[in-house]
Amino acid sequence: MLNQEIKKRNIPDALKFFSGDTVASSADWQKRRAELLDYFQSEMYGYIPAAPDEVSFEEISRDELFSGGKLELYTVLIKPRVNGKIASFKVQCVLPRKRIKGAFIYADFFDTVPSKCLPAEEIADNGYAVFSFFYEDTSSDNNDFTNGLASLFFEKGERKESDAGKISIWAWAMMRVMDYVQTLDSIPKDRIILVGHSRLGKTALLAGAYDERFYGVVSNDSGCAGAAIERGKQGETYKDAFIVFNHWFAPKFEMYALGKKELLVDQHCLLVLTAPRKLYVASAFLDKWADPDSELLACVAASPVFELLGKKGLSYSGEFLRKATALHSGDVAYHLRDGVHYLNRDDWNNFIKYFDKTFNH
Ligand code: GCU
Repeated sequence: MLNQEIKKRNIPDALKFFSGDTVASSADWQKRRAELLDYFQSEMYGYIPAAPDEVSFEEISRDELFSGGKLELYTVLIKPRVNGKIASFKVQCVLPRKRIKGAFIYADFFDTVPSKCLPAEEIADNGYAVFSFFYEDTSSDNNDFTNGLASLFFEKGERKESDAGKISIWAWAMMRVMDYVQTLDSIPKDRIILVGHSRLGKTALLAGAYDERFYGVVSNDSGCAGAAIERGKQGETYKDAFIVFNHWFAPKFEMYALGKKELLVDQHCLLVLTAPRKLYVASAFLDKWADPDSELLACVAASPVFELLGKKGLSYSGEFLRKATALHSGDVAYHLRDGVHYLNRDDWNNFIKYFDKTFNH
């Protein structure tokens, strides 16, 4: 039973302040939320920079023939200005030419639309707009903090202990896409959902935690330092991730990753920062590196926070899942699909099915 597993793994209680006091009301929760959000930034991902002084948008191309003209496809340059400096990145926008019921903001590993992981036409046929950007167009996936958006914040590319890692920078990019989507009359502003896969699933969780404008957050196969509980985790650990990808994190995270100090939180404490909005965690059965069991466990451990706020948690506490299953009945949703680490059509179809249901509620 997963509730016993939570005890066995000694997972910290999201509903206890670091002082040990209990979080008993939604007013308490606001304080606890602030405590956790600050802690994840200061100790793990690094502080997400403040909103830009200004952000402007420029349409740079349009494809009138996309999907035979059924859908709108155009590209916008997003140009945030910080302390007099401007950096830019591209967002590809796919809009159904009918009533739009919701929108996905999606960070991709590819710069085309559609892409291997983004079936844009099918998503739009379901009534959703998609705003997709190639994550390295915002800043490279390496230790260089002088290019793209990172150049706005780091004069010489050097970082201090709790400065943003690349996950925080990419999360900042997601919020700038949100700034753009807010300007579009055809998009229902209260139904904008953030989606990311793998390292970008970690990023989506952080951005959705920080920015409460998102209606929901989807983390697909985000695993270590994403949706998976670290204590007792199989596959990748903080140490594995930090050794190869230290640029994703704040420099300070090293002492935790190398086991010199224990974190006061586990990853469910990041998931709860989406509450009372919608949280969706997706896993793939053969993705043992990410560890589906520990992702499911995090959803169970996160659920009491949703319940304190009058929402419905995952409603599942049976055994670990051993076959494809979708748990769609609460404000915390989860699915396990067959196959390996990937974001495929089955995943998207599940997301759409779930969000459709929440809209019709
Ligand atoms: C590596 C990394 C994972 C990450 C994944 C990805 O496998 O170890 O933490 O999620 O890359 O982003 O594809």
